[in-house]
Parts: sequence; C-alpha cells; structure tokens
Amino acid sequence: MSKLKLFGLTSALVLTGVMVWAETADPFADIVETRHGLMMQMAADVGKMGAMVKGDAPYDAAVAEKAAANVAAIASVISLDQFPAGSEAGKSADSSAKADLWATPDDFLAKLGDLNTAAEALKTAAATNPDSLKTGITALGKACGACHSAYRASQG
Ligand code: HEC
Repeated sequence: MSKLKLFGLTSALVLTGVMVWAETADPFADIVETRHGLMMQMAADVGKMGAMVKGDAPYDAAVAEKAAANVAAIASVISLDQFPAGSEAGKSADSSAKADLWATPDDFLAKLGDLNTAAEALKTAAATNPDSLKTGITALGKACGACHSAYRASQG
C-alpha cells in the first residue's frame, strides 16, 4: 500500500470516528426526546379541554373525560427517570430543563405530585359539566405552570 493510500485510509477512519463521536456525544438525546413526547401529549389533551372551556369546541363529556384520563396516565409515568442528572439546558441538545431541578429534586417531585392530584381530580370534573371542567382545568394549568416557572427555561 502506497503511503498516499495509507494516509487516505487513515484520514477516512479518523473522520468516521469523529462522526460516530458526534452522533453519540449527547447521551441524553433520547431521554430528552422521551420527556418532550410525554409533555407534548399532555399539552395536546389539555388543548382539547381548553377548546371546550373557551367555547371553540362544543362540550363533550366523553371526549373531555378521555383527555383528562390521558393526562392523568401520562402524569403517573413522569418521574426523575426522564430527568437524569446532566440533562439540563446547555449540556444536552434540545433540553430546556433548568439545572435547579437537580438542586431541589424533592420540590420537583412535589410539583409532580400536585400535577397527579390535579389530573386525577380533573377526570371526574371533566365528565361532570362545563363549569367543573373549567375549574378542574384551571387547577391543572396551575400545576403545569408552577413547575415550568421553576424548572423550565424560558423559550426563545
Ligand atoms: C414537575 C414539573 C413539570 C410539570 C408538572 C409539567 N411540566 Fe412540562 N416541562 C417540564 C420541564 C422541566 C420541561 C423542559 C423539559 C426539557 O426541555 O427537557 C417541560 C417542557 C414542557 C413542554 C415543551 C416540550 C418540548 O417539546 O420542548 C410542554 C409542551 C409541556 N412541558 C407541557 C406541560 C403541560 C401541558 C403540563 C401540565 C398538564 C406540564 N407540562 C406539567 C416540567 C413539568
């Protein structure tokens, strides 16, 4: 093998190595995507109920109850498992989680507990009538907002 060919082969290997490294450099990419998926699904269900409250969609007890049940189910899945240490904004691509989350994990979990409580209550409220749906979704929205203002970096 000529020296030139050997040099070419070595460069190709080095380049491949760099590319593989770049792809795997963010060990939290998948888990950040997972938590975004959970959050986005809750937002979609909240949106359905919100449209009924605003009068953009007719009140439908069955649809509202299903949406509330979805939020409760997803809330029960969320834990620190989707928030491993080191996956904060600036360290993991696409993450908007503030480092404070890992400084006060008990508070994060308490806020998660509030979300679960509000979502469970909303299951009954959503199926009752538009007024109780409104009360329940307001409480749920507060639970979302309390955690975001503490642990989600402002967007853009
Ligand atoms: C216990 C804390 C907590 C609660 C409660 C919570 N979130 Fe989040 N949420 C976060 C954090 C932290 C992030 C940022 C995650 C990231 O970017 O890695 C986030 C991000 C999001 C995002 C952005 C996702 C993306 O793709 O960037 C949406 C949408 C969202 N939350 C919706 C909701 C809704 C709706 C609720 C209530 C039903 C809710 N969240 C309740 C902590 C919470």
